[in-house]
Amino acid sequence: MAVKRKKILFAVSEAVPFIKTGGLADVAGSLPKNLDSRYFDCRVIMPKYTCMKAENLKTLKFLCSFTVHHDGRDIYAGVFTLTKAGIRFYFIDNEEFFGGDKPYGDWYYDISKFCFFEKAALMAIKAVDFRPDIIHCHDWQTGLIPAYVNELRSDPFYSRIKTVFTIHNLKFQGRWGIDHMKWITGLPDSYFTSEGLEYYNDGNMLKGGVVYADAVTTVSRTYAEEIKTPEYGEGLDGLMRKRAWALRGIVNGIDYREFNPESDRLISAFYNSENFSLVKNKNKKALQKALGLSEDDGKLLIGMVTRLTDQKGLDLIGQILETLSGDDIQIAVVGTGDERYEAMFMEAAQRHPGKIAAYIRYSDEMAHKVYAGADAYLMPSRFEPCGLSQLIALRYGTVPIVRETGGLKDTVIPYNRYSGEGTGFSFADYSPECLLSCIRYAEDVFRENKEAWDGLIRSGMNTDFSWKSSALSYQELYDWLIG
Ligand code: GLC
Repeated sequence: MAVKRKKILFAVSEAVPFIKTGGLADVAGSLPKNLDSRYFDCRVIMPKYTCMKAENLKTLKFLCSFTVHHDGRDIYAGVFTLTKAGIRFYFIDNEEFFGGDKPYGDWYYDISKFCFFEKAALMAIKAVDFRPDIIHCHDWQTGLIPAYVNELRSDPFYSRIKTVFTIHNLKFQGRWGIDHMKWITGLPDSYFTSEGLEYYNDGNMLKGGVVYADAVTTVSRTYAEEIKTPEYGEGLDGLMRKRAWALRGIVNGIDYREFNPESDRLISAFYNSENFSLVKNKNKKALQKALGLSEDDGKLLIGMVTRLTDQKGLDLIGQILETLSGDDIQIAVVGTGDERYEAMFMEAAQRHPGKIAAYIRYSDEMAHKVYAGADAYLMPSRFEPCGLSQLIALRYGTVPIVRETGGLKDTVIPYNRYSGEGTGFSFADYSPECLLSCIRYAEDVFRENKEAWDGLIRSGMNTDFSWKSSALSYQELYDWLIG
């Protein structure tokens, strides 16, 4: 007998392969594919940005359009669709909101933009007659959907829909003055109490997800605990403690097809956990060459692929960079972000040519080359809900050096010099001294104990960070909610 598949709708502001500014897009692009399609019909709804790749925009099929009442006007919303790798995507079209050369911009405008998206997404599923059992929302841009579903309960189309809200980053909440939020959301005053969307006299979109969703998740167990504390709670730790029974941490996976050192066409030489000691150095040489670093096997090459923001612990790096550049190492940074961090790395690269390289651009190709070619991968984050790059580094046998926070703590096992166990190096205190001594410890093992270093590489490469087990956790959650 054929089973009736459960219908899941991901509502999200970005997803690979269409548009990406961060890890959220990787998760939204890869988790749906990894749910068991015999039991789950998982689809994705997102904005149709005009800055998406032309080849994708060209292939979208128009389904229908309607008007959304928003900001005192009736505004056009189109629905387009495309099936990619077996997953059906829906796109909400409105060039006034989703035009421009990047998905996010002005903070104030983004609030109105995603509020429009949330309303339109809920209207779109009715218009195309896809009634999900669960809408799985991600981050503040879709935080109001659980509140709207709650408000729409009297309509039989929405009355049985359950909602899940996943926090990828608590720092961004979508806040604005309460009167404006009332106006833009159109939700009744009763939603704007301290039990609801109100937050220090603002309306808070992310809070909508945490308060009104049937289940709340975040992307690692440690982060799920951390956000219940004032240090990491971004002002919402009290709410997190209150919702603790509905909140769980499920660690992200990575797409094992995209990130596979045995078949990655963006790297110079393929390798695996058996032959890495013969082959990985070819990738190191290629990386050194591509970035103008001196071509030398013996130096510990430390890589970073990152958004250059405060979250990533770059102020710590800034405090030790000059000292560190006196060591017998090399550093390769790939990424863009805050000007001061871009300048910090560019200036360091100028002062230490051949030793420090700053590739201040977003480049998938260079990112893969760093994952494959560096010896160690540095991620001293101030906070890290999950972190995907340390998982990619582990898969590529590039030994992570991380701060013990959030997903970094859950996925990197610190090296134990007595047993030889571990997959990387880690430190706890957010201080430049701890960071420096952790890096120096790694330098030491790299230089003095090749066997131990190779053991770390092997253990990392042999740990499974595919979506396999985390997708099962989401499936269990969906089953539990639907009953
Ligand atoms: C955000 C978080 C990151 C996480 C990603 C995907 O970008 O900062 O830690 O891995 O979302 O969940």
